[in-house]
Amino acid sequence: MRSTSYHLVKHTLAVSFALFALLAHASGTSSLLKQSCISEDCSAVRITIDNPPFNLFDINLISEFDKYLSSLNNQTKIKVVVFSSDVPGFFAGHLDLNFLSNTIRPGINASEYVDKYLFNIERLLDLPVVFIGEINGRTWEAGNENAVRYDMRFAGPDAVFGAPEAAAGLIHVGGAQQLVQLVGPALATEYLLASTEVNATEAARTGWVNSAHPTAGDLRKHVENVARRIANTHIEVIRAHKASIREQSPSKAAMRRDLERFVDLSIQPYVQVNVAKILRDSQNESRTFELDVNENIVKILQG
Ligand SMILES: *[C@@H]1O[C@H](CO)[C@@H](O)[C@H](O)[C@H]1NC(C)=O
Ligand SMILES: *[C@@H]1O[C@H](CO)[C@@H](O)[C@H](O)[C@H]1NC(C)=O
Ligand SMILES: *[C@@H]1O[C@H](CO)[C@@H](O)[C@H](O)[C@H]1NC(C)=O
Ligand SMILES: *[C@@H]1O[C@H](CO)[C@@H](O)[C@H](O)[C@H]1NC(C)=O
Repeated sequence: MRSTSYHLVKHTLAVSFALFALLAHASGTSSLLKQSCISEDCSAVRITIDNPPFNLFDINLISEFDKYLSSLNNQTKIKVVVFSSDVPGFFAGHLDLNFLSNTIRPGINASEYVDKYLFNIERLLDLPVVFIGEINGRTWEAGNENAVRYDMRFAGPDAVFGAPEAAAGLIHVGGAQQLVQLVGPALATEYLLASTEVNATEAARTGWVNSAHPTAGDLRKHVENVARRIANTHIEVIRAHKASIREQSPSKAAMRRDLERFVDLSIQPYVQVNVAKILRDSQNESRTFELDVNENIVKILQG
């Protein structure tokens, strides 16, 4: 079922820094994804991501996404899902690096969570629901892999996009090919290989998002208007469009090849050193480091 398995292509990732061996987020019980209705009949809904301090894709957030996307299987009530964030300054952050460095809690199967994460970003393309990003904060790495797989994205004044994987010696595995489709190969090469941070205006100009809006209120108004209009459309029509547009998406095989590229890179000794350095210098993924993550990674790894 899972067309792409991190576990299967993973040979070994042996960075062990016992210092970073715990995952505090793993014990939370409150819901990190809050649902509210946009349209009266609730066929358009908002999912607010709330995993402070920067919406890290950790065990809890991955599990909640898995549950939520499963709930969208075999249902006809929800036609449109808008994702937004409640966490100041951030839309969504990266995958917990502790998964990649064997510094996850003992008893946790890191591969299982990475696989679940990858399975879910694939589902964003396949589920017969229209996904919209209402983005008014930093959208980095895994956060961007999700965002570029939504059916569309809109940005507010505080949106910033970036994928610093290349600076760390890796590839933006679930988002590189979608980004190429959105902004074209030349801009994607610049943004990815130079680890550029891209603001809302630039993102709208290049096609990373559909449009940029001057205030959070304007952004919301526009997104909700689009969501309501789509939700008023017959479900068969929505499904036909999603299936048609999906035919132009990069294939699952292409995604699998990117995963192989990611794994081939991730076993390089310099990558293991880089990941350890990032964990150390960020004081284990601190919010301060994440505020300017592309620049900070370039600074500590490339001088
Ligand atoms: C590193 O961060 C994780 C996730 O926030 C946390 O669970 C863990 O305790 C931290 N480890 C150290 C050594 O601070
Ligand atoms: C339910 O959803 C799953 C996953 O999308 C699909 O494989 C299955 O065929 C669906 N079942 C029905 C009855 O539609
Ligand atoms: C870890 O999860 C993977 C699936 O991602 C599975 O194939 C593997 O058997 C699991 N390992 C253990 C020790 O349970
Ligand atoms: C957004 O980025 C572009 C390109 O780097 C830059 O010219 C522009 O001044 C930036 N806009 C804001 C509001 O920072």
